[in-house]
Amino acid sequence: MVRDSLLAVALTLAAVTGGAQAPSRAPDIYFAPTRHNIADAMLSLASVGPHDVVFDLGSGDGRIVILAAQKYGAIGVGVEIDPLLVQRSRQVAREGAVAHRVTFTEGDLFAADISPATVVTLYLNHSTNLRLEPKLKRELRPGTRIVSHQFPIGRWVPERTVMVDGVPLFLWTVPAR
Ligand SMILES: C[S@@+](CC[C@H](N)C(=O)[O-])C[C@H]1O[C@@H](n2cnc3c(N)ncnc32)[C@H](O)[C@@H]1O
Repeated sequence: MVRDSLLAVALTLAAVTGGAQAPSRAPDIYFAPTRHNIADAMLSLASVGPHDVVFDLGSGDGRIVILAAQKYGAIGVGVEIDPLLVQRSRQVAREGAVAHRVTFTEGDLFAADISPATVVTLYLNHSTNLRLEPKLKRELRPGTRIVSHQFPIGRWVPERTVMVDGVPLFLWTVPAR
């Protein structure tokens, strides 16, 4: 009886969520989308073009990498811990006719292989950026551009900072080793 009730609850949840599970661990920061004009300014600040592979670490509903593919012709990769957001991103990519140019991986951004990126976008927070700095410097190839919405990366001095609607966007390029 109890088992049947639990099964019914599980089936209902699966129907509501499309089968997606809860995140494997608590996110380091909760979902808050980057506004469209700011996403566009981030991609423009990084001079994204058709030869780029744009990784958004903590990709939310996928909007930054989808825009990178749609407007700039780039390949996009989103890494997102919340399976529901991954599912939504894939759907938006299909609806936006760029599913063949973008990939969404469900998982922890700290465990992701980011070495193929030529551009990395971030909208995280101070402490997560600080923890991410060694990984960015260790795994990204020299010349890879990093753009962060609102938050600096520790004491790493950005090469450019622009303000869009009162929000700072920071740009770095991974130096030669
Ligand atoms: C502030 S939102 C930004 C979403 C998107 N990048 C944008 O700018 O619209 C941060 C996202 O990071 C995800 N996130 C937080 N911690 C994460 C982790 N350790 N690994 C992967 N994704 C994570 C959250 O679920 C959330 O969707």
